[in-house]
Parts: sequence; structure tokens; C-alpha cells
Amino acid sequence: MLASPAQVAETACGMITDLITSVPDCVLGLATGSTPLDTYRGLVQRHQHGLRFDEVETFNLDEYAGLASDHPQSYHAYMAENLFDHIDIDRSDTHIPRGDADDLDEECLRFEQSIRDVGGVDHWLLGIGSNGHVAFNEPGCDPDSTTRVVDLAPETITANSRFFDRAEDVPRRALTAGISTILSADRIVLLAYGANKAEAVAEAIAGPVSPDCPASFLQTHPDCTFLLDTAAASLLLP
Ligand code: PGA
Repeated sequence: MLASPAQVAETACGMITDLITSVPDCVLGLATGSTPLDTYRGLVQRHQHGLRFDEVETFNLDEYAGLASDHPQSYHAYMAENLFDHIDIDRSDTHIPRGDADDLDEECLRFEQSIRDVGGVDHWLLGIGSNGHVAFNEPGCDPDSTTRVVDLAPETITANSRFFDRAEDVPRRALTAGISTILSADRIVLLAYGANKAEAVAEAIAGPVSPDCPASFLQTHPDCTFLLDTAAASLLLP
């Protein structure tokens, strides 16, 4: 547990920096949402001080079905704006499922295979939804799931609506890495800030391993770290 969101981001950024420094051609799994923004800012600053990404390969967790890569609310646009446009990564080494692919099921299979083709992810950075989801693996999901098209839970659609002008524009489906895809990474680091994540964090860490809280499947991973601020950890404290 860390005192502030800033310390969570600094620690997450330090772990990724150490990995890139020791393994310049490492494979990173990345997340979107508000949680990793400060971590990405930190990585951009480290790049300005010499950290190189030119051999790094990245995989993102998810993308909205139906959104083209240049849609301002797509996760392609988010990653460009918050990280990729500011570092020396080769864009052909960045992988995000395409929400506008002609055949979304085929796109999911292609994405999953491309992770296998590079030998798997070394370090996957995650956030958590207030309903316990990881990526868009919503409550009720299968622990053996791989990348696939899913319907978003009503609370996720509501949470995402803050980014869209009109309610009818909020995507109802997404392409998402599965629980098994995420668990296949060598190391997993989940970040959470704020009291609205406290219940999901407590269920994920101290509750039963259950599809009711998809993040609880992380308990089965041998190298998974939760970086929490005091508010997100508040229901775990004595
Ligand atoms: P947030 O989303 O980082 O915007 O809180 C996390 C998530 O829903 O996985």
C-alpha cells in the first residue's frame, strides 16, 4: 500500500523502467482508463531523460467494438495521445485489437496469436473496474477465456458514458484480452486509486476466487502485485 496515487504511479513507472533497462526488447501489456495516465506521464518523462522504447513491443488489453482507430474515444487514440506519440516506440510493435475490423472474432484470434508469436507478455499493467472487472472481463466471465468480443456490463457502460457526448454513442461491446490471456503474462501489476475501487480491491484480494469478481482470478497468478493508495486499500486494513 502506498500513501498517494502519485506514489502508486511512481512505483509502477519504476518497475517498467527497470524492466526495459534490463531487458530492452521486453514485451509490455498495457491498459487504458484514468488509472495508468500518471504512469504513462512518468514513462514519457523517463524517455526524455534517455529511456529508450525502440526495441519494446506492447499489447493493449482491449478496444471498443465499432470504433475506428482514429475515433477520439478509441483506445488506439488514447495510447497515441498518452504514450506512443511521445516515445520512440516503433508503431508496428504496438498491438491493440482493431474495433473496426471486418470480422471481429477473427481479429480476436489474430490478436491472441500475435501474443503467442512473440513468446508472451513479460509485464502486464492493469486497472480494475469498480465492479471487479479486469480489461472488459465482466462479472460472470470464464477464467479460461482468451481474446474475444464481449457485451459490456451496464455499470461499465455508465462509467464510460462520461467520455461520450450522447448516451447512444457509448459502445455496448468490446474486444478484450481474456482472463487466461492476462494470466499468461510472467508478471502482473494492478493499480488502483480511490475509495470507489476499495470494494472491488478487497473482493479481488481477500474474497473467494470467483467469476463474481473477475480480478479475484489474479490470486492464482504466481507473480501479481497490487499497487494501491490508502483509499483503494481501505477495506483491507484492520
Ligand atoms: P479507470 O478504469 O482506470 O478509468 O478507473 C479502470 C477499469 O475500468 O478497468
